[in-house]
Amino acid sequence: FKTIDDMDLDGKVVLTRVDLNVPVEDGRVTDATRIEKIVPTIRDIQQKGGIPVLLAHFDRPKGQRVDRMSLKQVVPALEQALGQDVVFADDCIGGPAKRAVAALQPGDVALLENTRFHAGEEANDPTFAASMAALGGAYVNDAFSAAHRAHASTEGLARLLPAGAGRLMEAELKALDAALGTPQRPVMAVVGGAKVSTKLDLLTNLIEKVDHLVIGGGMANTFLAARGIEIGTSLAERDMADTARAIMDKADARGCAIHLPLDIVVARQFKAGAESQVLPVDQCPADAMILDAGPDTVAAIEGAMEACRTLIWNGPLGAFEIEPFDRATNAAAQAAARLTREEQLVSVAGGGDTVAALNRAGVAGDFTFISTAGGAFLEWMEGKDLPGVSVLLE
Ligand code: 3PG
Repeated sequence: FKTIDDMDLDGKVVLTRVDLNVPVEDGRVTDATRIEKIVPTIRDIQQKGGIPVLLAHFDRPKGQRVDRMSLKQVVPALEQALGQDVVFADDCIGGPAKRAVAALQPGDVALLENTRFHAGEEANDPTFAASMAALGGAYVNDAFSAAHRAHASTEGLARLLPAGAGRLMEAELKALDAALGTPQRPVMAVVGGAKVSTKLDLLTNLIEKVDHLVIGGGMANTFLAARGIEIGTSLAERDMADTARAIMDKADARGCAIHLPLDIVVARQFKAGAESQVLPVDQCPADAMILDAGPDTVAAIEGAMEACRTLIWNGPLGAFEIEPFDRATNAAAQAAARLTREEQLVSVAGGGDTVAALNRAGVAGDFTFISTAGGAFLEWMEGKDLPGVSVLLE
């Protein structure tokens, strides 16, 4: 696909799709990571003589104008990240957008109001896309994290203007390729999460691609139950037992080692400071629930990780939001961080919960790459086509 380097941007208004779907509390941005990551793209467009006009969605207003979902509240954080004023237009098409864009000078940056205030955005309506396209002379997509959506601003626009990938999009795709596309082997995937049913596509794709698959979180309980192990009152999907067994059989046949808990941390209540116990995996009391993997499990994961060259991580190993059930996640994350620092391991992680867990463990900075994407990262790991990426490849 084309990048900013391959595009003629001189003197052009460059419609730049970014992801500004950032956490906001009381009208203020509480985590500016996604904003900081788009700065190189904006700078490089300016460097090439282009004027970046940013397009983005915020939350899910469903085609209505919803005041608390205005992108205006993101402007101060964007100005701070860029170190310059940002022109804001309170619509992404029509008079307000046209007037704001017409007044821009080289060196300026503008942000247009939430694209999802128009139903045409999610419908990928060609007329709506054409109204946006009329504002500019080129299109750069830097929103990997929204690339799983075939919307007007993520997909339709790429068909109407000369199109290319921004720097963050490039970096995300490169990291994902290094992790699952053409990785150095052996590869380990760590997958956590509550439900097997929502991660079936993911597990099925991963056992085809990786050498070690670590299963954590509530999902692991479903696998343990499928093996006939007593799991007490643990969160699990007992009706998924056959599916779990089929996954384990297929993994066996393909030479993918599945790592399930060898020991468990159990408690009778799920709350901070609840009395907990470490037990062998087959000793869960009938009235207790499994909330984390134990130290023997972590040691086994670490041992396997030592021999791996690549790690891809999505989902915590236990109920990491509550101490002491964050221990397995923290310890495994620290092992990954150490091996990455020692340049033995390429480590890539993504997904909202995962990044929060790695930040809590204080190791996010040590990973080779942390994706800004949640849903898009997952769909990519599932082996699905991302419309916003595919259209750039066409
Ligand atoms: C995200 O925050 O993961 C992306 O911006 C996509 O948002 P969406 O799930 O509302 O499409």
